[in-house]
Amino acid sequence: MLITLEGIDGSGKSSLHAALKELLSDLDPVFTREPGATWVGDQVRRAIAEQIDPITEATLFVADHAAHLAKVVRPALAEGRLVISDRYSDSRFAYQSVTLQGIVPNPEGWMRAMHNGWTVIPDKTFLCVLPVDDALTRLKPDSQREHFEKRETLEKVQNNYLSYARNEPGRFVIVDAMLPRETVARFVADAIRMMVAEGKKKRKR
Ligand code: TYD
Repeated sequence: MLITLEGIDGSGKSSLHAALKELLSDLDPVFTREPGATWVGDQVRRAIAEQIDPITEATLFVADHAAHLAKVVRPALAEGRLVISDRYSDSRFAYQSVTLQGIVPNPEGWMRAMHNGWTVIPDKTFLCVLPVDDALTRLKPDSQREHFEKRETLEKVQNNYLSYARNEPGRFVIVDAMLPRETVARFVADAIRMMVAEGKKKRKR
């Protein structure tokens, strides 16, 4: 089973990922992330830091995804493991739709087409949502931020995420990221536990 955590920068999804490591340790999940599960992630980080070029950056994110699937996600799923990824393809659709605006025609369509036919679609995606102003207060000072971490960008990114959640209500679960961290972590951990139990029951039938 593949679970993904999504949300804008400052939405607390990385600390949620860390909390789930403790809360779900008995299920022995594979905890992973995008970008950065393989060495391709180092190149992505370099492209982000240098702001080299939006298309280079976008295609490196896709390359990182391909390597992540090949080296981590597919092998783990083949062993029947639970996989929990901090960011995944929806990050590409939500962020690169913004960063590629005016650079390629129909950025979201282009990004989705690049994934079609080989990606693995998550079973469930927890989307951490909060007012952008609150997310910004949780980030580093302005001068140390990545180029994504601007108010206008994050507002558009969050709106993109919310539209995906509306289009796929069966896959997305919206999480109120303003709730205390422990409450959020417990809610998500319980939901995952229930899904794993359901999955086991179905397999037995
Ligand atoms: P991440 O490692 O989650 O952020 P952090 O540095 O806070 O741990 O991701 C780095 C940035 O990359 C983040 O602003 C979101 C962006 N991103 C994309 O634009 N597209 C993608 O496909 C992914 C996975 C991330």
